[in-house]
Amino acid sequence: MSHLSVNKICEDLSNGLENVPVSFEAISAIRTVPEFQYSPDNVQGPGCTFDPSEVTLPGCSCLSYSCLTESCSCLQTHGSAYDSTGTLLNLSSTNSGYFSPVFECNALCTCSDACSNRVVQRGLWLRLEVYCTKNMGWGVRTLDAIPSGTFVCEYAGEVISFEEARRRQLAQRTEENNYIIAVREHAGAGSITETFVDPAMVGNVGRFLNHSCQPNLFMQPVRVHSVVPRLALFAGRNIDAQEELMFDYSGGYINQPPAELLSTHSADAKQVSGTDELQRKKCHCGANNCVQFLPLDLSILN
Ligand SMILES: C[S@@+](CC[C@H](N)C(=O)[O-])C[C@H]1O[C@@H](n2cnc3c(N)ncnc32)[C@H](O)[C@@H]1O
Ligand SMILES: [Zn+2]
Ligand SMILES: [Zn+2]
Ligand SMILES: [Zn+2]
Repeated sequence: MSHLSVNKICEDLSNGLENVPVSFEAISAIRTVPEFQYSPDNVQGPGCTFDPSEVTLPGCSCLSYSCLTESCSCLQTHGSAYDSTGTLLNLSSTNSGYFSPVFECNALCTCSDACSNRVVQRGLWLRLEVYCTKNMGWGVRTLDAIPSGTFVCEYAGEVISFEEARRRQLAQRTEENNYIIAVREHAGAGSITETFVDPAMVGNVGRFLNHSCQPNLFMQPVRVHSVVPRLALFAGRNIDAQEELMFDYSGGYINQPPAELLSTHSADAKQVSGTDELQRKKCHCGANNCVQFLPLDLSILN
């Protein structure tokens, strides 16, 4: 992991940790480069019972170049999420408010590294640039055109428990950036898993993605080697070079909340039930259908 210091102008925010440099618009470097540790992958944070870097899922025994549903235990168990070119087949999988997980072949699978069921694990390939937006702070734009369904980047950071997410949220001031994302998934037999990722202190380029009410990316939890999901972002439509990349913090394209967690401090938090004294952050996404406020997820404060 690299550690960026204040005012340091850098050509690669990832400091060589990604396959391609994450550029930083030179003119924006007049502003202070945010101080955080770059990590392309999730790391275990307070309260997280699993180490995301540990291999905990079983693998297939295919000896083929690329796995085929007829013979692959991974594809038979979890279905095939990608086409032969690694493009996600179904854009956003549920409208019930919960994500359905995607599983890739992993470190224990005997298929080749080129298997089409390995996409997110290959990491960043597109040239992305962090730049200073007009009124949303830092943002991310793509320097390459991106076809619909393409994996773009992860939203990687510290994976923390619900209690830790709540503690961090309550310690935050309303005007501060909130980075904590909560994701809820159907985990079979009616059970729900919740994952909280905070890239504020340790994270990747995903931490700079802004919210839009009409986004061009959508989030899809993807499991590779670990039971801890990676929060992967895919292109929801064809995206032109130089467009800002944004996703809906409430989980959609089609999904309803989970959302960006509430940005507030403890005094506000006490008033959540029954009052509308919450200071919601104004949305500056500029979309025709903008709902004027950033999404909130109040459940963490109950
Ligand atoms: C994950 S960070 C995104 C990067 C952030 N802009 C920065 O400068 O580091 C989320 C924060 O960015 C700001 N933000 C993101 N989307 C926004 C939007 N549509 N309108 C206004 N502020 C936004 C909010 O302060 C939010 O809490
Ligand atoms: Zn296989
Ligand atoms: Zn496999
Ligand atoms: Zn908006």
